Amino acid sequence: MPKITKVKSRQVFDSRGLPTVETDVLLQDGSIGSAIVPSGASTGSYEANELRDKDPKYLNKSVFNAIENVNNIIEKNIKNFDSLDQENIDKILIDLDGTKNKSKLGANAILSVSIANCKAAAKSTNKEIFQYLSKNKNYKLPYPLMNIINGGVHANNSLNIQEFMIRPDGAKNYQECMQFAFLTIQNLKKFLENQNFSTCVGDEGGFAPNLNSDEEAIELIIEAIKKSGFEPGKDISICLDIASNEIFDGKKYSFINDKSITSDNLIRYYKTLVNKYPIKSIEDPIFEDDWNSWSKLTDVIGKNVQIVGDDLFVTNYQRLTKGIQEKSANSILIKLNQIGTVTETLKTINLAQSRNFKTIISHRSGDSEDTFISDFAIATNSNQIKTGSLARSERVAKYNRMLRIEELLNNPGMQKL
Ligand code: PGA
Ligand code: ZN
Repeated sequence: MPKITKVKSRQVFDSRGLPTVETDVLLQDGSIGSAIVPSGASTGSYEANELRDKDPKYLNKSVFNAIENVNNIIEKNIKNFDSLDQENIDKILIDLDGTKNKSKLGANAILSVSIANCKAAAKSTNKEIFQYLSKNKNYKLPYPLMNIINGGVHANNSLNIQEFMIRPDGAKNYQECMQFAFLTIQNLKKFLENQNFSTCVGDEGGFAPNLNSDEEAIELIIEAIKKSGFEPGKDISICLDIASNEIFDGKKYSFINDKSITSDNLIRYYKTLVNKYPIKSIEDPIFEDDWNSWSKLTDVIGKNVQIVGDDLFVTNYQRLTKGIQEKSANSILIKLNQIGTVTETLKTINLAQSRNFKTIISHRSGDSEDTFISDFAIATNSNQIKTGSLARSERVAKYNRMLRIEELLNNPGMQKL
């Protein structure tokens, strides 16, 4: 059994230039695993707590307390334990913290150790991370959900919808997924340039133009898909993340031409939208506490459209249980740092898949060169991965990792959508 001999944490920086936690876990046999935790901007209120210091030198963003918790508290409690027993390591971390939302030690501290341990264990067994984590060894690649126009809190432009994504449904393998996306993105860029819109990118690598409306963004993407020789809705479909927490004022939603509308009218609007455009997936269409409207919407359009709970479920087993009972959605976005350990994330994924919910593994808007989620998506048989556009190396790194895995597995084929 490879014992943990050292756990060492440090402050590094994420893709927004904000401090975050990196941890190394060292084993007796010399194996090392290292992980950097990501960080969200449009976070759900039920997410596990990200511990940040109250220090004006870093505008209250530094993570030295979380790091001290790893170096001074966590290390001595997991030292000499078996790295291969991920469940036990995670249980020790959860018990050590003792709070419901990991606010004592910090979910960022805990998750960095959990993932670093998992990577060290994979090394020690001479396996790739996805091979080490996979239960059924039935490897297929997840379809990428690529966020090619950024709005909302991820860009300082005019768009209210946070993410306009494309999904290359007609691609036969990952390499082809990338080719479909590459061409569409390059054509979209040309369209934007021709109309004198900015081609600067937002936090997740998608363009962030000041378009006149959210629907204009959808129409431009459809044009780019067609220009690339693909059929919208068949070869490439459109997926949205409304991130509606951010546009809800406590009573109404404001985003259609800046008018405020009720949840019932919003549901009607979504129905019109999916009839008008080849939209196959809508994430966080409704704010995180309005369970009734989630169920209504899923009832109205959920047969043909993926309804994805991100802030609604926050990768949390209890919230997903409620969502399954109330038929609130049919898919779940999975973010490890919403819950804080590998084991708890796997438990939520298992529950989702046992109830035929689609699982989509996701990056965060503040991310890093760490590509763990690519391996994690394959290991968990998730059918999609959402990790930004083909721009900004912290996003592209995840897609590149997927291409290398495809090569390693000798073209294993794609997951079923
Ligand atoms: P976040 O956004 O990482 O800023 O929370 C991603 C999302 O809402 O899916
Ligand atoms: Zn989201």
